[in-house]
Amino acid sequence: MRNRVLMMMAVGGIAYALSSPFALPQDASGQQAFNNSCRTCHMVREGDNRLGPNLHKIIGRKAGSLPEYAFSSAMKEAGFVWDEEKLDRFIANPEEVVPGNNMKPYGGLSSSEDRKKIIAFLAEGR
Ligand code: HEC
Repeated sequence: MRNRVLMMMAVGGIAYALSSPFALPQDASGQQAFNNSCRTCHMVREGDNRLGPNLHKIIGRKAGSLPEYAFSSAMKEAGFVWDEEKLDRFIANPEEVVPGNNMKPYGGLSSSEDRKKIIAFLAEGR
């Protein structure tokens, strides 16, 4: 019984995906996951820094490099450019990627599914 429900949900999802040949400019579930986990502190819009720096075009951006945001020295000196893999590890466990960073309080996002969605959303750069 439970399997049938899951099955129907899966089929529904596929039907939905197939029914939108014009790939939506942004995946609503990515936006949702971002809102749930990141939006308290981050906006994606260029120049819009809150508690955290804006994440406009974060993929390809050098870590800790926005001149108008006061990064921790750990982030300023991280010395790498954000890519999908770095972001994935950072969102899972910031301390492991940039020890001493100031992204707090943030507990880490253990769901790789949600991390993937958020990164896809951020890859759109808005
Ligand atoms: C509690 C507030 C808070 C939350 C929630 C939060 N962040 Fe942050 N984030 C920060 C702060 C503050 C910094 C600056 C850290 C530093 O300078 O060490 C930061 C830095 C970053 C950076 C580095 C930016 C750069 O220019 O190098 C990335 C990437 C990032 N956050 C992504 C995310 C993502 C994605 C999420 C959601 C999964 C998230 N953050 C959730 C506060 C937060």
